[in-house]
Amino acid sequence: MLRIGMLTSGGDCQALNAAMRGVVKCIYNNAKEPVEFYGFEDGYKGLIYSKFRMLTDKDFSGILTRGGTILGTSRVPFKTIREPDANGLDKVAAMKQNYYKLQLDCLVMLGGNGSTKTANLLSEEGLNVITLPKTIDNDLWGTDMTFGFQSAVDIATTAIDQIHTTASSHGRVFIVEIMGHKVGFLPLNAGMAGGADIILIPEIPYDINKVIDKIEERDAKGSRFTIIVAAEGAISKEDAKLSKKEYQKKLANYKFPSVSYEIADAISRKTGREVRVTVPGHVQRGGEPCPYDRVFASRLGAEAGEMILDKEFGYMVGYKNREMVKVPLKDVAGKLKTVDPNSDIIKEARMLGISFGD
Ligand code: F6P
Repeated sequence: MLRIGMLTSGGDCQALNAAMRGVVKCIYNNAKEPVEFYGFEDGYKGLIYSKFRMLTDKDFSGILTRGGTILGTSRVPFKTIREPDANGLDKVAAMKQNYYKLQLDCLVMLGGNGSTKTANLLSEEGLNVITLPKTIDNDLWGTDMTFGFQSAVDIATTAIDQIHTTASSHGRVFIVEIMGHKVGFLPLNAGMAGGADIILIPEIPYDINKVIDKIEERDAKGSRFTIIVAAEGAISKEDAKLSKKEYQKKLANYKFPSVSYEIADAISRKTGREVRVTVPGHVQRGGEPCPYDRVFASRLGAEAGEMILDKEFGYMVGYKNREMVKVPLKDVAGKLKTVDPNSDIIKEARMLGISFGD
């Protein structure tokens, strides 16, 4: 008997269900022994507090295209994982106990950066763990791609496309704020796909005067509008120079809902232009996965299934240089993948006339 536990952790994204279905289909089609799947509810919370259900074929039927996660998810920050909960429960010990109580052969964790740190901890504690790279941010180290990213790029691009028509009608400056946490892959790709004139990403701190120069350059050429895509983590050159403590102090007294409103305020004060901000927010994580993500997540799931059958544990399944790879969890944990300001895509975007406000 093979017993496999599964959980989805952190912010959800498209294709979580497709990836779980991939694992299950691979195992059902190739295992030489009976298999039981246990789904932990709401991420690591389910493993800590023993909230799980046995999953059958029916649970995985028809979910290739379904957004969200059939298991539910939650954020259990890694920095709190070693701290006892409100009732004094040792979370790590509880997770181990529940794993052993169910006699699991493996835990499959679908998650992003913080969740992978916890997975690595459990692996170091002796559990058999395999992870799949999930996040719309595409910021997991060790893989060129994460599932959810391409679907989010599609949605964010649609938002920018829609803004284009209204921006051109009114001759306004529009800022579309795109998710991505502290990295710029999503705003960069959606911005390029949506024909943004200015893209502001955390990896390239902006100078507001350079942003204005670009708007004025467009005005001078007779372009009636400017589309700015700002990463939710965009940062000015001045703020980038602040120490962590100084920056936190600034944020504590921050009068804007987010960075885009600060940028909008500076542009309209300095130029008198009418500026509007659009924040698509969690829409970017919602709905069904795009075809790329369905295929990619299914492939990752199949690879994970094969690794379980081969008893290879302690890895994240990744995708590097167009090949599926096994990346040791200890190498992934705690590392962030960011946009390289000197990468080809940035150079090419600049050659297309896109300003990064620097
Ligand atoms: O990590 C995915 C993500 O959507 C980020 O892009 C964003 O910063 C964050 O999650 C939002 O988190 P929450 O869903 O907890 O508000």
